Amino acid sequence: MNFKNKTIWITGASSGIGKALALTFSNQDVNLIISSRNEQKLNEVKKQCKQPDKVKVLPIDLSEFSSFEDKVKTALSLFNGVDILINNGGISQRSLAIDTQLKVDQKIFEVNYFGTIGLTKALLPHFVSKKSGQIVVISSVMGKIGTPLRTAYAASKHALHGFFDSLRAELYNDNIAVTIICPGYVNTNVSKNALTADGSKHNIDDEGNANGMSPEDFSKKAIRSISKQKQEIVIGGLKETSAVYLKRFFPSILSNIVRKVNVT
Ligand SMILES: NC(=O)c1ccc[n+]([C@@H]2O[C@H](COP(=O)([O-])OP(=O)(O)OC[C@H]3O[C@@H](n4cnc5c(N)ncnc54)[C@H](OP(=O)(O)O)[C@@H]3O)[C@@H](O)[C@H]2O)c1
Repeated sequence: MNFKNKTIWITGASSGIGKALALTFSNQDVNLIISSRNEQKLNEVKKQCKQPDKVKVLPIDLSEFSSFEDKVKTALSLFNGVDILINNGGISQRSLAIDTQLKVDQKIFEVNYFGTIGLTKALLPHFVSKKSGQIVVISSVMGKIGTPLRTAYAASKHALHGFFDSLRAELYNDNIAVTIICPGYVNTNVSKNALTADGSKHNIDDEGNANGMSPEDFSKKAIRSISKQKQEIVIGGLKETSAVYLKRFFPSILSNIVRKVNVT
């Protein structure tokens, strides 16, 4: 797919993967709508884009579902429609299930699952009426497997696969593509921003993320997959991609490996 003059709406664009996607896309001749809660950071991202005049900032809190209809109306008015929605905003987890307050499980689901499907459903009538569009979902390798310390996070990402695989089938005749991307470790603030058992931030840059792929390399690969309208792709190192294949073909071997993950 040629992205020229397409309008691309990216959530979670204030940092990490979303920011890198915005900066990489801005090298092509596209219109960008960038969203997250932090308007100041979004304005900084806009300034760093190659063509800032083709970038609009639209603050959004993915846990404020009642705002979605108005946000979609605004998004549609900014450049005369939207062609691609990239559902990237999300939060991770660093806590054992036994310690985790239910409100934390709920918060993770609100942002990662209900925020993502809610915004998508609000935009859907626009895509269906013009019989075109692409919905991209930044899931995770945790959307395919489960490891200790990620119960709610892995569940929220698995849930996205169920929803968007079903939606893809529903939208086939409307010419709307659904692309699910599962990153492995990417070197962003995701682990610092992850929620702990009481909902406070983890504030530690875990080794896995610190040694992960750069957001820039990830975004280049992700954009290639979006342009090919792939249905699902895992983008990560050998360890993470192997884990997905083990889960599929040798699940008990993977179980043996993940139960030895250090949880201290
Ligand atoms: N990095 C990895 O290793 C990795 C691996 C697998 C999957 N992922 C997924 O990749 C996506 C991006 O994460 P990242 O690695 O780039 O982490 P990040 O640097 O922490 O970025 C997370 C983004 O989500 C936004 N966000 C968080 N809560 C939000 C809310 N309530 N409403 C709106 N936006 C919200 C944040 O913006 P504000 O704080 O400004 O709202 C930020 O822009 C997430 O869905 C994550 O699960 C990351």
